[in-house]
Amino acid sequence: MGPELTRPSEPAIITIFGANGDLAKRKLLPALFNLYHEKLLPENFLIVGNGRRSDLETWKRDMREGVETFSRRGKPDEAEWQEFSSNLQFAFGGLDDRGLYEGLRGLITQTEASWGRGANRIHYLSIPPSMVELAIHGLNDAGLNDDKKRDRVVIEKPFGTDLTSAEDLNTKVTAAFDECQVYRIDHYLGKETVQNLLAFRFGNALFEPIWNRSYIDHVQITVSEEVGVEGRGAFYESAGALRDMIQNHLLQVMCMIAMEPPVSFEADEVRNKKVDVLKAVRPIPPGELYKYAVRGQYGAGHSRGEKEPGYRQEEGVDPASSTETYAALQLYIDNWRWQNVPFYLRTGKRMPCKVSQVSIEFKPVPHQIFPGTTGEHFEPNRLIINIAPKEGIVLRFQSKQPGKGMRLQTVNMDFYYSEAFHVEPPEAYETLLYDVMLGDSTLFMRADQEHIAWSIIQPILSAWTNTPSADFPNYAAGTWGPEAGEALIARDGRSWHSLPVEGV
Ligand code: BG6
Repeated sequence: MGPELTRPSEPAIITIFGANGDLAKRKLLPALFNLYHEKLLPENFLIVGNGRRSDLETWKRDMREGVETFSRRGKPDEAEWQEFSSNLQFAFGGLDDRGLYEGLRGLITQTEASWGRGANRIHYLSIPPSMVELAIHGLNDAGLNDDKKRDRVVIEKPFGTDLTSAEDLNTKVTAAFDECQVYRIDHYLGKETVQNLLAFRFGNALFEPIWNRSYIDHVQITVSEEVGVEGRGAFYESAGALRDMIQNHLLQVMCMIAMEPPVSFEADEVRNKKVDVLKAVRPIPPGELYKYAVRGQYGAGHSRGEKEPGYRQEEGVDPASSTETYAALQLYIDNWRWQNVPFYLRTGKRMPCKVSQVSIEFKPVPHQIFPGTTGEHFEPNRLIINIAPKEGIVLRFQSKQPGKGMRLQTVNMDFYYSEAFHVEPPEAYETLLYDVMLGDSTLFMRADQEHIAWSIIQPILSAWTNTPSADFPNYAAGTWGPEAGEALIARDGRSWHSLPVEGV
């Protein structure tokens, strides 16, 4: 977030439904506190937590612990925290309780009156998809959707649990709120490096001419996590890697890589171009799913030298669970730019390290002039976009090793955020919350994007649900996933790039 950003001029009242949950503690409150620290919350703001597990004092304590543990800035300054937290309120109640919404309405009216001006009311639904409908009803009945400009609803991913439920949910959401009031979150879109893809591709003339099937051999998108399900076993049982990561985060990153240049940076223009990518994804031929989609589940193993249990032994998980903790897909985008260029996507929990990375491999040189051993370390050019942990962009190319004779070696030309700008990039949720306050929906999912993303994965989801895997667990915690994941890419004579990449 650069110094040019200014406070939103309009006051904001942010209500977090599901405020006793993990997301509020790990992400939302640390993000709001950082925005406060950077003077990027409005002069007048109120943050209301809703849940059924605490009162104001316990919630504040819990949120402070969240900020101390998870904020990129670490422990807050005491006086600053006291100032910030004097703007926190708690609204106790279940989502099916009409009184909750009436109470909120009263609180909003009273707060706006005390400020002497209206506020943007941001209703943040940090709740499971099955509860969203209830909250939408409540907000609707209490008239907390009436003001098309000021009432905004933020909906956390996953939006629905499959194609049908997402469509159904969308009908209900858009019956109560206009599309311009709805902010569907995919936090990957708020990540600085993901946004930087647009700057990199469309702010430079250099790469665009070679950004196509004539020069690019294939694209790999990897989001690996070292952690397991982190106490969220019960939630994860109904999610799985395909729903939790691929339907949203990985497909969105793929859109940023593959989209055509937008005419302008207008929210709808950018989103139209991304939708075009999803529309062009080649349907997986029925009966050939096994060739294009692989699932895995971790068994017991080791991570950082510690013994770790298998997924089926995690709290809240069915001991015979068929939920996948790893998924890999091979997709094609049927258009002029990308015809027959494979996009390999993979994600998994309990892998050797946390990396979110796009690796674009260019075609090899058409004719190798260097004989025999000179090119023994030869690898095709690669552009690596590191989304996490060390945000940056690296170009790998061949160089002559110093000394007599001609020996080639792959070297890196790199750009890292922290080194180039001497700042840590903001957390995705800071960017996204700030944008909601400004009413800028560029980085949020539109209904049609959600719909198409679900329709891409639905055939896989249905097949996996209908036929539980016979070989789970099929990879040990602390490894790169099942053998079938390697076979998926090896069939084409390629392999997953080893991670982390040397020097990156
Ligand atoms: C969330 C998933 O959307 O993304 C989690 O629900 C996952 O399971 C997380 O751990 C990963 O996000 P990040 O920003 O840490 O890569």
